[in-house]
Amino acid sequence: MTETGTDIAHAAASLAAGKLVAIPTETVYGLAANALNPQAVASIFEAKKRPFFDPLIVHIADISEVEKCAAYFPPLARKLAAAFWPGPLTLILTKTEIVPDLVTAGQPTVGLRVPNHPLTLALLKQVDFPLAAPSANPFGYVSPTRASHVASHLGNEVDYILDGGDCEVGLESTIIGFDTHDQPVILRLGGLEISRIEEITGELGENLHQNSNPAAPGQLDMHYAPRCLLVKQDDIALQLQEAENFKTALIRFTRPIDGYDPEKQFILAPDGSLKTAASRLFGILRQLDNEGYNLAIVENVPDEGLGRAINDRLKRAMVR
Ligand code: TXA
Ligand code: MG
Repeated sequence: MTETGTDIAHAAASLAAGKLVAIPTETVYGLAANALNPQAVASIFEAKKRPFFDPLIVHIADISEVEKCAAYFPPLARKLAAAFWPGPLTLILTKTEIVPDLVTAGQPTVGLRVPNHPLTLALLKQVDFPLAAPSANPFGYVSPTRASHVASHLGNEVDYILDGGDCEVGLESTIIGFDTHDQPVILRLGGLEISRIEEITGELGENLHQNSNPAAPGQLDMHYAPRCLLVKQDDIALQLQEAENFKTALIRFTRPIDGYDPEKQFILAPDGSLKTAASRLFGILRQLDNEGYNLAIVENVPDEGLGRAINDRLKRAMVR
């Protein structure tokens, strides 16, 4: 079994030796390597079976480290970083030479973020390099929100799992890029609500479309897919539900429906809060697989605030 624990010195030593360490963040667990060591970075792609065209986010200890990795810090980017770091926000900025091309998939930009988790912040202060880290799941599968999720799929690939408990936010960071006039553009919906960003920037444009969008090459459709087939709550779903070979679950927002086994109903937010739904979503998708469900009928959540990011992930989890 992979070693799991809270030993920051051990994690730091593994990373300095070019090995992979799973790190907790407030969003999801990351699969980390020394971002400045191309060989270590290459092993991230191998471990995840991730295509090399999908760039990695670089994690730094605080805002003062931006200048190491970014050649230019647009004024609005600086404002956003000051307001939301540490936190679930990734900024795409023009990279400096020290950032290997492998990290950025050959692009001239790098994604930067200061994650908000005490263990990982302590780790980042201890090492003298930034950490490249995608979510710590095999490519295409659901992102991990607790140490055991990492162990079950990538346990053999990592040298150590830094166990920071359950991720508080549960959805990946919101990604913001900047256009040629330094105007912010939304590239991925995530754990930081757009309305909070817009309080600082004014109304933002979006560039969320994935497969055809070279600005965010990792935003692939099929990105969060469990083995269990997810379908929308509609007539076809109800017919399928009656088919014999399916072990069928319902994913509901706040309450179970009457007339269906409550044990087979997964409630995202018993308290009605989108924050709760976000933090529970990926764990529930994994639970469906672990419990052998092969069909889940999904009720979307209200499409506002964090709900937009939740519905985005549900939509991607449905694509086959
Ligand atoms: O919350 C998060 O963002 C988590 C934690 C571990 O920090 N990380 C994460 O990484 O979700 P990952 O690899 O699953 O998603 C990274 C995505 C890429 O797929 C791509 O869409 C975008 O970030 N990205 C990274 N660098 C980029 C760049 N230079 N230009 C455009 N998009 C970039
Ligand atoms: Mg990912």
